[in-house]
Amino acid sequence: MIRARITGTGSYVPERILTNHELEKSIDTSDDWITERTGIRERRVAEEGQATSDLAYFASKAALKSAGLKARDIDLIIVATVTGDMPLPATACILQGKLGAKRAAAFDVNAACSGFIYGLSVGDAFIRSGSSKRVLVVGAEVLTKFTDWEDRSTCVLFGDGAGAAILEATEDKRGIISVKIYSDGTMWNLLHTPGGGSRHPASRETIRKRMHFIRMKGNETFKLAVRTLEKLVVDTLRDNDLKPSRLSLLIPHQANLRIIQATAQRLCLPLERVLVNLDRYGNTSAASIPLALDEAVRTGRIRDGEYILLEAFGGGLTWASALIKW
Ligand code: ACO
Repeated sequence: MIRARITGTGSYVPERILTNHELEKSIDTSDDWITERTGIRERRVAEEGQATSDLAYFASKAALKSAGLKARDIDLIIVATVTGDMPLPATACILQGKLGAKRAAAFDVNAACSGFIYGLSVGDAFIRSGSSKRVLVVGAEVLTKFTDWEDRSTCVLFGDGAGAAILEATEDKRGIISVKIYSDGTMWNLLHTPGGGSRHPASRETIRKRMHFIRMKGNETFKLAVRTLEKLVVDTLRDNDLKPSRLSLLIPHQANLRIIQATAQRLCLPLERVLVNLDRYGNTSAASIPLALDEAVRTGRIRDGEYILLEAFGGGLTWASALIKW
């Protein structure tokens, strides 16, 4: 049986660090509030002129290098993002051009924080069907350029970054064991960017009303995220006949430490078996899981043959999980 295996990972974050203490100077917030409510201490911020494909490029180069591949070996590029370089064309196409991945088809996936796992599920399906042999899946975001720096309920949360993974066809038993993706579009307005699309095209009015920035009903999203993710991780393991004790590492989307703790608790997993890096990067939406995955690989937290579980919840609403035998 052919399955997809992750053979390389890479990541990139901008150099500029924005701490909670710096935010205290511009809005009515405190380091204590942000740390206690979210677990975030600092985040990275892209430079002026630095766009999502620029971050994606560095992460992709690193992933290609770790897989021992050249850009020309890639058949398909999927970029998960909600903060693309521009509405047209796809950021994946811009990335393809920059990498010189001449043989690759390229498109974007928009599933907010679940985007990377959605991308994995598409890449996995292309590989299983025999359509592709080598797929580059990237999660990349420059959220800080869509952040309303006057809205303290959202601006303390987001950060910029990119992570990438190479999927290759294998007949090995290791690889992606299961991917589950879900959505509920009746609750799209919990988390959205109202302006700049065909519903509210860019105008002086949309700019005046700050409609080009991300809006979130944080508290409602929080409750739904906890409930949904607890069920998702339990169902994913049960459907694959795997006891939580067999999991070596849980790599959750990094939105809020309290959400991560609730999910880990539901599986009775000690926090040593959960990757947490939101203290350093904040919520980087589609980039958060591949950033964390690359960190886990580079720091030796995943060994061959171990089971890891990825899970995410985000705008759409969307949620997703991936069980991988490394
Ligand atoms: N500093 C100080 N006080 C604040 C801040 C701030 N930065 N932000 C909000 N507050 C205040 C509010 O005004 C409110 O005050 P009030 O009680 O006087 O009205 C109080 O803090 C509590 O606000 P809540 O919104 O109820 O706080 P909550 O505990 O829910 O935490 C948070 C907010 C961190 C946003 C949380 O709800 C959360 O993490 N939500 C989920 C986020 C998520 O998972 N999103 C999905 C993925 S993101 C994506 O797809 C791009």
